[in-house]
Formats: sequence, C-alpha cells, structure tokens
Amino acid sequence: MHRGLIVGVVTALLILAAGAVFFSFGGGAFRTAVTNILGVFEGWYGESLQPGASMAHTWTDAERGLIASLSIDRLPTLLPDPSNAVGDDSDAIALGHALYFDTGLSPDGTVACASCHKPELYFTDGKVKANVRGVDTQRHTPSIVGLAYNDWFYWDGRKDSQWAQALAPQETAIEHGGNRAGHARYVLERYHSQYEAVFGPAPDISDLSRFPFAAGPVEDEATHAAWTAMSEEDQRTINRIFANIGKSIAAYTRRILPGRSRFDDYAAAALVNDQRRMAELFSDEEAEGLRLFSGDAQCANCHNGPLFTNGTFHNIGLPLALGDSFDQGRSLGTLQVVEDEFNCLGAYSDATEEDCIELRFIKIEGEELLGAFKVPSLRNVANTAPYMHNGMFADLDAALRHYNAAPPAFPGHSDLNPLALTEKQSGALKAFLQTLSAPPHAPQELLRPPERENTN
Ligand code: HEC
Ligand code: HEC
Repeated sequence: MHRGLIVGVVTALLILAAGAVFFSFGGGAFRTAVTNILGVFEGWYGESLQPGASMAHTWTDAERGLIASLSIDRLPTLLPDPSNAVGDDSDAIALGHALYFDTGLSPDGTVACASCHKPELYFTDGKVKANVRGVDTQRHTPSIVGLAYNDWFYWDGRKDSQWAQALAPQETAIEHGGNRAGHARYVLERYHSQYEAVFGPAPDISDLSRFPFAAGPVEDEATHAAWTAMSEEDQRTINRIFANIGKSIAAYTRRILPGRSRFDDYAAAALVNDQRRMAELFSDEEAEGLRLFSGDAQCANCHNGPLFTNGTFHNIGLPLALGDSFDQGRSLGTLQVVEDEFNCLGAYSDATEEDCIELRFIKIEGEELLGAFKVPSLRNVANTAPYMHNGMFADLDAALRHYNAAPPAFPGHSDLNPLALTEKQSGALKAFLQTLSAPPHAPQELLRPPERENTN
C-alpha cells in the first residue's frame, strides 16, 4: 500500500477517535467535518478508491479517456466505400460470399480466398508464410477482420481498396493461379443470374477468338501473350468483369467485423469508473498490462483507436528471417498503388476524384517508408500466431522480446525505443493482449461457405 495512504488513514482514524469523544455533545457538524476530511483523503489517494477494488483498477481521468478510445464502442459506423458502388448491396454480398469460398476461381479447383483466410482461424492460416502450392508466398497471411476501416491493403499498402486487393491473389501463380479472362468466363457461366442481378446485363464474351479461355497480365507466358494480343476494348470488357468480381468479394469481406471482447467490457466499466466491475472483468495482472500498453510500453503510440492500429506504416526494425532477402515494404507499396489500374482514381473505380483523398495526397517517398509495414490490428492477436509481415515470431513472447530489445533497423530507421521491461511486466502485457479475443462479428451464415442453392 502507498505509504502516504497509510499515514492518511491512521491520521483519519485518530481524528475519528477524537471525534467520538465529542459526539455526546451532539457534534453533527463535527461528523460532517470528519466525513469531509476523509473525502479529501479519498481525493488525494486514488480518485475514488471504492470498497473491494485494488489499486490496479484505479485510473486517472486521462487514462480512462485513453482506455475508452480503444473500445469497440468507439468504432464509427462503417461508411460506404465510394470506389465500390455495390459494397453494401445484399446481392453483391451473397455473390461475394460464394466467390470467397469457391475453389473454382483457381484453374485446378483447389484454392479459394478461404484457403488462406480461414474463418475458423480468425481469417488467417496459422502459417509462417502463406503456402497453398508447395511454395511460400513472400509474406505472412494477415487477418481480414475489420479491414474495411483501413485505407490501405497488404502489409505494404500497395492496394487502396478491398475490391482492388481481392483481384491480385487470383492472378498470382502461387495463390489462386488463375487469370482474369478465365475468371470472367467462369463467373458469367457459373453465376450468371446472380452477376446480372448486381451489375446488370453481362457482356457477351462467348467469341473465343476475341476472348480466349486464358488471358491476363500474369507470369505464365502464353496466358500473358494471349492478353496482349487482345484489343484494348476487349481487355476493358474483361477488366470490368474482373473488377466486379473483386467488388462482390469486397462486399462480403466488408461484413466481417471484430466482435466485443472482454477488454471492451472493461473499457465500458472504466468509462464510468466502476472499479468493482473492472475488478470482476480483469485480473490485476491484465490491468497492469493495459497500464503498460497505454503508458510506459508506448504500444498505443501505434496500436491505437478501436482497432488498435493507427492505419499507417512503421519500420520496427525486425531482423531478417533466415533465408529472406530485404523487404522494402511501404517504399515500394506507394509506387505500386499509384500505378495500379484498379486504384481509386482508375477507370474501374466508382469514386469521383474528390473521393480519392488518400491516394491523391499519398506520400510516395521518404526514408521512413523504407522497411515500413502496416500496423496490424491487435484484436484477436492471441489467436493469430505467427506474427509480423514475415511471420518470424512464433508466439507473443517472441514478439514482446523484440519490442523489449528494439534493435536498430538495417537499412532504414526503427520507430521503436527499447523498453527494458521486467519479465513480470512482459507477462502482464501478454495477459492484456489475450483479453482482446472475440469471435468475429458477422451474421453466422457468412462465417461458413454458402449453401449450394445460393448459386446457379
Ligand atoms: C495463398 C494464400 C492466400 C490466398 C489464396 C489469398 N490470400 Fe489474401 N493474403 C495472403 C497474404 C500472404 C497476404 C499478405 C501479402 C502482402 O502483404 O504482401 C494477404 C493479404 C490480404 C489482404 C490485405 C490484408 C491487410 O492487412 O491489408 C486482404 C484484404 C486479403 N488478403 C483478402 C483476400 C481475398 C479476398 C482473397 C481471395 C480473392 C485472398 N486474400 C486470397 C494470402 C492469401
Ligand atoms: C512505432 C509503431 C509501433 C509501436 C510503438 C508498437 N508497434 Fe506493434 N506493430 C507495429 C508494426 C508496424 C507492426 C507490423 C510490423 C511488421 O510486420 O513488419 C506491428 C506488429 C505487432 C504485432 C504482431 C501482430 C500480427 O498480427 O502480426 C504485435 C503482437 C504487436 N505489434 C504488439 C505491440 C506491443 C505489445 C507494443 C508495445 C510494447 C507495440 N506493438 C508497439 C508498430 C508498432
């Protein structure tokens, strides 16, 4: 206990004892004075130390404000994505739901989005690097829960919408491994009426001399050559269907939001300073972890707001994982997103130029972008190991050891400061991170593949 508090309590007891002597003289005024003095002590030693609560749950007003700012109750209503006119359309959600789980969007019928972003693993895959074809992709699979609130997508932010993002894996050889002409044909055949219900009459792409089975700007040379041989107008026809496939998938993934965790209940109790409730919800250790997270350990400098991310990019000086070459991260991602034909300002976007503020004012160059990666949300972090863009940390202990040491970055500049936390403090931080878990918030039927009759 705080030494001053002991002194205070003893003094108060002495005053009370003295007061008792005077009570026979009808000392009502005195009783009030004693109560007031105790009230002052209460004010000095913890804002209002309520009976039954430990100091662990005593927060200043400023601290309570910061805790509340992390609560899911502060998550704003999801605004429409102006670049995706069907983003909130129920038919588009249904189509996207089907496409998300459909392995038919890969030439050998084996890979779907859900192969790597698995609902049962909080939309991750549990692997160091994504791998569905015996070859590692460059990076680790991030969760897609709550991503609709982001401005940038991928670890390096090389996409500026969820629909534009959803196109890339379809044409990556070691992911879906398909091509846009093939996928356009597949979707128009397999989901014809569903497609038309969302996007209106589908173009006729039955002429194989103009629209080959396999064509797209992909690695495979023959497929690439078939694409460059197409007229620009026919390419645009395919691109539009391809973009619509992405827009449907994004309408679905937008619906996958984070659920209410034990931390959020704690934040609600902290907001009204209900210490008894706080003590019911969090152990002293978890509260100590929250205190470090939002204070001395500086985590909330970057992991802030209801999604525990500031949505920007930082270099945190991760050492190179064995066998990896240097990953430039954001400094390359900025160049790619401004060149992307499917970006907010592009021909397939539904946005006006005014809507594309993020892209128009993007900072393309700067030393701080080198080796910088997107700050991931920490909601459900205890369930989404391994960690970081390269998946190099197998568990939270390893990640916390990195933050504690904060080695300098090479190349680039690390935005971290070494922390020198004790083992007990690291344990508390980890205990706190484990309070952020909750099943995704979405209609239950969206968390599993759709029933067959939804397709035609
Ligand atoms: C082979 C596994 C794999 C498949 C299949 C796959 N993804 Fe991913 N996904 C990844 C990896 C790995 C990353 C991170 C890549 C990077 O940042 O460079 C990623 C990143 C993402 C992101 C960005 C996350 C963020 O934090 O910005 C979204 C959104 C996403 N995928 C959605 C999808 C959708 C939709 C599909 C289906 C069209 C899909 N993915 C198919 C592995 C996969
Ligand atoms: C300077 C900004 C910054 C600060 C401060 C910061 N982080 Fe991070 N955090 C990041 C970035 C950026 C990443 C992703 C880095 C990467 O993959 O290259 C990350 C990743 C993580 C991950 C991995 C999440 C995942 O899904 O892979 C955890 C866990 C984490 N941070 C926890 C913490 C904790 C705990 C603290 C405080 C001790 C903290 N962070 C402080 C920026 C920061």
